[in-house]
Amino acid sequence: MLSKSMQDALNRQVLMEAQSSQAYLAMASWAEIQPGLKGVTEFFFRHSDEERMHMLKLMHFINERGGFAIIPQLEQPTLTFVSLKKAFEELMKHELAVSASINELVDLALKEKDYATHNFLQWYVMEQMEEERLGRECNDKLEMIGDDKSGLYLFDRDIMTMDAGGSKKR
Ligand code: FEO
Repeated sequence: MLSKSMQDALNRQVLMEAQSSQAYLAMASWAEIQPGLKGVTEFFFRHSDEERMHMLKLMHFINERGGFAIIPQLEQPTLTFVSLKKAFEELMKHELAVSASINELVDLALKEKDYATHNFLQWYVMEQMEEERLGRECNDKLEMIGDDKSGLYLFDRDIMTMDAGGSKKR
């Protein structure tokens, strides 16, 4: 059985995953109307789906452990970006905030001696490591590429085979 404080904290994470899904959906829509970003567009759509899956996984856990998963109201995310680099910088900032939030949840689970939740959260800890790695890789590449069009072409092509959020692990 979840404590009230743990239930509230997990529901805040439901909100965060839902906001992430919306943020990446907005990036996907923006990328789709830019010339030559087919791969990036698919990446963001896929990443948005991943975040929705993270949200659903949390919701099922809350409900299965005697809590009640709350469907949150969402803020409108950033809709446009001055460059692809800016979009990926925002993605990275977002993922670091999610990681910090997951770490706080792990902390709370330990404080409450809620080992079931602690065990459940380990999946998210691993997932965040992967997402941070991927975000960093993309940002490093875009930093190197700068305004070089052939570099951007290759980035867009290569990102099609990158794993957005580790879906293949599930
Ligand atoms: Fe589910 Fe990328 O945080």
